[in-house]
Order: sequence, then structure tokens, then C-alpha cells
Amino acid sequence: MRCLVTGGAGFIGSHLVDALVEAGHEVRVLDDLFTGRRAQVHPDAELRIGSITDAAVLREALAGVEVVFHQAAHGAVGRSLADPAATDAVNVHGTVMVLTAARDAGARRVVFASSSSVYGGAADPPTPESAPTRPRSPYAVSKLAAEWYCRVFAEVFPLETVALRYFNVFGPRQRPDSTYAAVIPLFTRAMLAGEAPVIFGDGRQSRDFTFVTDVVRANLLAAEAPTEVCNAGVYNVAPGTARTLLELVEVLAHLTGWEGTPRFGPPRPGDVRRSQADATAARRDLGWHPTVPFEEGLARYVQWLRASAG
Ligand SMILES: NC(=O)c1ccc[n+]([C@@H]2O[C@H](COP(=O)([O-])OP(=O)(O)OC[C@H]3O[C@@H](n4cnc5c(N)ncnc54)[C@H](O)[C@@H]3O)[C@@H](O)[C@H]2O)c1
Repeated sequence: MRCLVTGGAGFIGSHLVDALVEAGHEVRVLDDLFTGRRAQVHPDAELRIGSITDAAVLREALAGVEVVFHQAAHGAVGRSLADPAATDAVNVHGTVMVLTAARDAGARRVVFASSSSVYGGAADPPTPESAPTRPRSPYAVSKLAAEWYCRVFAEVFPLETVALRYFNVFGPRQRPDSTYAAVIPLFTRAMLAGEAPVIFGDGRQSRDFTFVTDVVRANLLAAEAPTEVCNAGVYNVAPGTARTLLELVEVLAHLTGWEGTPRFGPPRPGDVRRSQADATAARRDLGWHPTVPFEEGLARYVQWLRASAG
């Protein structure tokens, strides 16, 4: 099939592009290289540099496309606190633009990259999709709004949509050197440099870490799942395992050979205490299940960061 990956030069998008190309699909990428990198785009994919907020660019990018994997976004809570309007412009308005262009081009389905942040930390994890949503950052609001646009487009137009709520995704190509780097890249970089990782809070906050190739598989399955099962649906994508930051430090210390004790800083405002998915629906409807154990994923990440730093 011919598909479009928005944000296909980014961390998750570029892995998705690799998998689609390797499966024999014709892949087009639309990315404005805001955080993405040209060098990460598979050479057999067609890269178009431009923004999802540009209707003319989208129209051309959508020509002949059957499935859109919509990954492009301003993707950090911190960035959204610094510039809520920019996050809104790309994540909400940009998504409406993508959906409209997909509808107008006669695409079959849009698979949307949503986020566990829409829950805002549920009272009683593991959290199913039916749990109340309570966004606690402009980023989380933008993802929830975009999800609703996906649902509504599927209900009122002949365009299918599936939203996947990713939890904490990690893996190769996730960079530690951006202002808004995620916890695994930051901790790994520190330990490889022989430094103590900095934990904000007591370290007992937990996350449902998901290896990037498992997220990619969820996208591929969401593109093919039967309409009557998944159209207008929202699915958690995560192993369903809560790991504390202290546990993360322990595994990384083992993998990097770092010895010491982490440093502790004040808890960050809005930080969720416990994040853990109930991924029953994704198993049932999409046939998805995680395949890469946490320790193995971390080993692959450490290996990648070592090689890319060296
Ligand atoms: N990484 C995670 O843990 C995580 C968790 C939940 C949801 N998500 C979502 O998954 C998606 C991919 O995230 P990622 O971690 O790979 O981030 P990323 O920043 O590496 O990828 C986002 C990509 O979108 C591109 N982009 C940004 N604005 C654009 C625009 N206006 N037009 C075209 N392209 C644009 C960037 O250049 C980048 O290549 C995002 O939608 C993000 O919100 C990620």
C-alpha cells in the first residue's frame, strides 16, 4: 500500500518508516525537521520537507495515499508549558489539517499517535481507555483534542481513524541532548559519562516503558484491523508493567557499569505518580502484544547510545 508517515523523520516515525519499507510498502514522509532528522529517514522512503499545517503541502503529500500514520507533533510536556500556542497549532490544528486532507484525498484510514498523558495519572492503575481523562498540560490537552477530532471525523466522514495512546516510548534514536529529553536517554547518558542521574522526586514514581518496535507493530496492526472492530477507536499501547525510576536506575547501572547513588531533585509540577496501561483492548481488537522485555530494550538502547556517542 502507499502510506504517508507524518513526522517520519522523528524518533518513533523513522522506526515506523523502516518497518513499512521493509514490509514492501510505498512510503512517503512529511516532516518539517523541527526535531526530526533527514539522516534517519530510510533511503527508500520519499521525504517531503514541509509542515502539516500547510494545506497545499498536505494535498500533494496525500496524493494516492491509502493509510496515514500521523506521528508529527510538538512532543514534550515542557515545550508545551513554554509555548502552549505552538503546541496547539501543530498538535490540534495540524491534526485537523491532516484529517481534512486525508478525507479530501479519499484515504482509507488515519492512525494517530496519541498519548497516555490524556489520563493525567489515573487514580487506580492499570488504566483502561474508559478511565476518565484529566489532561494536566497543554500537550495533554492537545492530544485529547486531536483524539476527539479523529473520532468525530470517523463518525461523520467516510474516513476511518484509530488513535493509539503511547505511554513512555524508548529506544534507539531517542536523543539525550534536546532540552526536553526523556528520562531514559538522560539517565543513560549520565551513567555512560560516569555521572549520577538526577531523579526528580523520590524515584518511586512509575512508568509503563514501551520499546519503540512494539509501538511500530501496534501502528501496523492498527492500519489493518477490521473496520467494524477498531474504527473511531482509542487504544492503550504499553506492556502494562509499572517500573519505578529507582528500578530503571538499577537496570541501567547494571548495563552501563555505573556505580553510585542517584541525585534527587524536587518533584516536578504536574508529574504523574503512577502510569500503567491496561492494554486488554489492543490485545483483543488489534492482536497486539509487547515482544521486547524492558531489560532487553534498555540493553539495545545503551548499545545504541554508546555507539552513537563514540
Ligand atoms: N516518545 C514518546 O514517549 C511518546 C509518548 C506518547 C506519544 N508520543 C507521540 O508520538 C509521536 C512521535 O513522537 P516522537 O517521540 O517520535 O517525537 P519526535 O519529536 O522525534 O517526532 C516528531 C516528528 O514530528 C515532526 N514535526 C513536528 N512538527 C511538525 C510539523 N508542523 N509538520 C511536519 N512535521 C512536524 C518533527 O520534526 C519530528 O520528526 C508524537 O505525536 C508524540 O506526541 C510520543
